[in-house]
Amino acid sequence: METVKRASPTVTASSVEGLLRRSGLAWFVIAAVGQGAFIWMIVAHYGRKTFIGDLAGWNDKPIIKGYVSGDHAGNLMFAIHVLLAAVVTLGGLLQLVPAVRRRAPALHRWTGRVFFIIAYVMALSGLWLTWERHTYLSLISAISVSANGVLILIFATLAWRTAIARDWVSHRRWAMRAFMVVNGVWFLRVAIMAWVLMSGGGLGMNRTLSGPADIGLQFGSYVIPLIVLELYFRAQQSTSPAVKYRAAGLVIGMAVITALGVAGAISFMWGAYMI
Ligand code: HEM
Repeated sequence: METVKRASPTVTASSVEGLLRRSGLAWFVIAAVGQGAFIWMIVAHYGRKTFIGDLAGWNDKPIIKGYVSGDHAGNLMFAIHVLLAAVVTLGGLLQLVPAVRRRAPALHRWTGRVFFIIAYVMALSGLWLTWERHTYLSLISAISVSANGVLILIFATLAWRTAIARDWVSHRRWAMRAFMVVNGVWFLRVAIMAWVLMSGGGLGMNRTLSGPADIGLQFGSYVIPLIVLELYFRAQQSTSPAVKYRAAGLVIGMAVITALGVAGAISFMWGAYMI
C-alpha cells in the first residue's frame, strides 16, 4: 500500500507532463499543415502570376487592393509583402522544429536572422500598405492589423536581443511569442473560417470586417494565441498536475478549432487558388 501511495504522484506528474507536451505537438502539426496550405496558395497564385508577369492577375483572388494600374510603388510593395509572406511563414515553422535546432544550430542561427529581418519587412510593408496605400475595409480592421504589425516589430527585436545575449530561456519565450504574432494574419483567416462554420454562416460579421464578431476575431487573432501560449508556459513550469491538465485541455481545444478553421480555409478560401 505504502509503495503504491509513493509511486502514484510520480506517474501522474510524468504522464500529465507528456500529455501537455503532446497537446502542444498536436496543435503544432495541425498548424503546420494549415500554414503549408497558406504557403502553397501564395506560391501557386501570387508567385505564379508574378513570375509570368501577369500582375493584374493578382486580383483574380478576392483582395482589397492588389494590382493598380500606374501605381508602381504600391504594386512593388504589394509584391514584396505577398511574396515574402510565403518565406516568413515557412521560416517560422522551420525555426520551431526541435530537430533543426539540435542537429544544425548554425542553420538555426542563420535562418533566425533572416526570419527576423523578413518579419520586420512584413510588418513595415504591411503598415505602409494599410496607411499609405489606404488598403483596409474599416478603420477598426486597420487598427487591429497595425497593432499586430507593431507587436511583430517588438517581439522580433526582443527575441533577437535575447539570442545575442545568449539568454536562451528568455529567447525561447520571445521567439515563440514572435512566431504567434508573425502568424497573426494566418490565425485571422483560420479563425474567420472556424467562426463561419461554428456559427452557421458568420454570425456578427459584415463585409467591412467591423461587426462584433469581426472585431473580436481580428484582435483575438494574436491576443488569444499569446494568452494560450502564456498559460502553456506557466503550466510547463507548474508542479501542479491540475494546472497541466487544464492547459493540455485548452491546447487540445485550440487544436480542434484550428483543425476546423484550416479545413474551412482550404475548402472555401485558398483551395481554388492552390491549383
Ligand atoms: C508576417 C505576417 C504577415 C503575413 C504572413 C501576411 C500575408 C499577407 C498575404 C498572403 C496577403 C495577400 C492577401 C491574401 O491573399 O490573403 C497580404 C496582404 C496584405 N497585408 Fe499582410 N501579412 C502579414 C503582416 C501584415 C501586417 C502586420 C499588416 C499591416 C500592418 C499587413 C497588411 C496587409 C495589407 C494591407 C494587405 C493587402 C490586403 C488586400 O489588398 O486585400 N500584413 N498579407
